[in-house]
Amino acid sequence: MNIKAIILAGGKATRLLPLTEKTPKSLVPVLNTPFLDHVLLALKSYGIEDVTIACGHLSTSLQEHYAENNLDLNISFTYEESPLGTGGAVVNAWDKQTQTILVLNGDIFSDINIADLLAFHQKSQSQITFSLVTLEDPSHYGVLEIDINGRVLSFTEKPKLEEAKSNLINAGIYIMETSVLQMVTADKFTSFEQDIFPILLANGAPIFGFKSNAYWIDIGKPQDYKQLNFDLLNGKVCTFAPRPRGIYNTEKQNIISDTAIIASTSQIKNSIIWKDVKVGNRAIVDDSVLCKHVQISADCYIKSSLLGQEVYVKEGHQVIEEKIDAGNVFS
Ligand code: GDD
Ligand code: MG
Repeated sequence: MNIKAIILAGGKATRLLPLTEKTPKSLVPVLNTPFLDHVLLALKSYGIEDVTIACGHLSTSLQEHYAENNLDLNISFTYEESPLGTGGAVVNAWDKQTQTILVLNGDIFSDINIADLLAFHQKSQSQITFSLVTLEDPSHYGVLEIDINGRVLSFTEKPKLEEAKSNLINAGIYIMETSVLQMVTADKFTSFEQDIFPILLANGAPIFGFKSNAYWIDIGKPQDYKQLNFDLLNGKVCTFAPRPRGIYNTEKQNIISDTAIIASTSQIKNSIIWKDVKVGNRAIVDDSVLCKHVQISADCYIKSSLLGQEVYVKEGHQVIEEKIDAGNVFS
């Protein structure tokens, strides 16, 4: 597909703290691979090779990661001193020549068919074509109403559940004619969802939605980050990213980096363990995420918790239903 992509990756990712305190949301490991690698390799499978990543928060590690391995893609970066919002970020990243662009929220994993999305966009002569998925509770997302031809009638960002006009949500993957970007003032915070989509619709712009039954998840919340890892582990959805060395245990539901050092007398289940973690003798880790360089001493019990980078839990301690910020010592 001959289309350029812009990936929005500059949000602060506060809902995913403490996992995103030191690691940008785009690089949190999913199946031991930085999240965005999965997205980029999916784009590559469609022949999409020109990608601009619009970053802000923790951008240096993102740039360093793709400087080391660009996945044979042509990746460029734009940077925002302070967040420009989704609309401002796209204008900042747009090369001012391309007419049609693919825009992706940088925290979505989906196997939505992008070639079909583009074909629908072209056929309907749309200015923006949203990919849409159906959720039982759409209230945490952008909710759209469409007519039988797919034309969007309304867009409401995060309505109350009782006020949601449908179960169709904005999947965060759009095809966009850059003519709509004229509405966005450069270098000024502008949200597509709050400031642009509602105005375009009020002005009668041809905006369409393309429904899909594909797998879809936004990793922006810890529960959903874990869910994606386990869905991939359990084969509910496939990825184009190769599996690096590590432990992928479907019986115990563990995903463990190959550089983690795990005592053989410890018990780990339902957990995701990042690089260079140490787990001591007889420690139990259940339903938890341990970020890079976490150290769990002997005889600890870690249950339903998220431990930020370099957290150190001293011998015999229990951590239950906690979120512990990076660098803390738990004693
Ligand atoms: N560069 C840049 N600058 N990126 C940004 C900024 C910004 O100021 N603000 C947010 N982003 C990026 C985030 O990093 C993320 O990848 C994406 O834009 C969406 O932001 P989120 O903060 O994750 O938004 P959301 O999940 O609450 O809602 C959005 O996504 C939903 C689908 O998951 C909206 O687009 C909803 O309408 C949509 O349903
Ligand atoms: Mg999100």
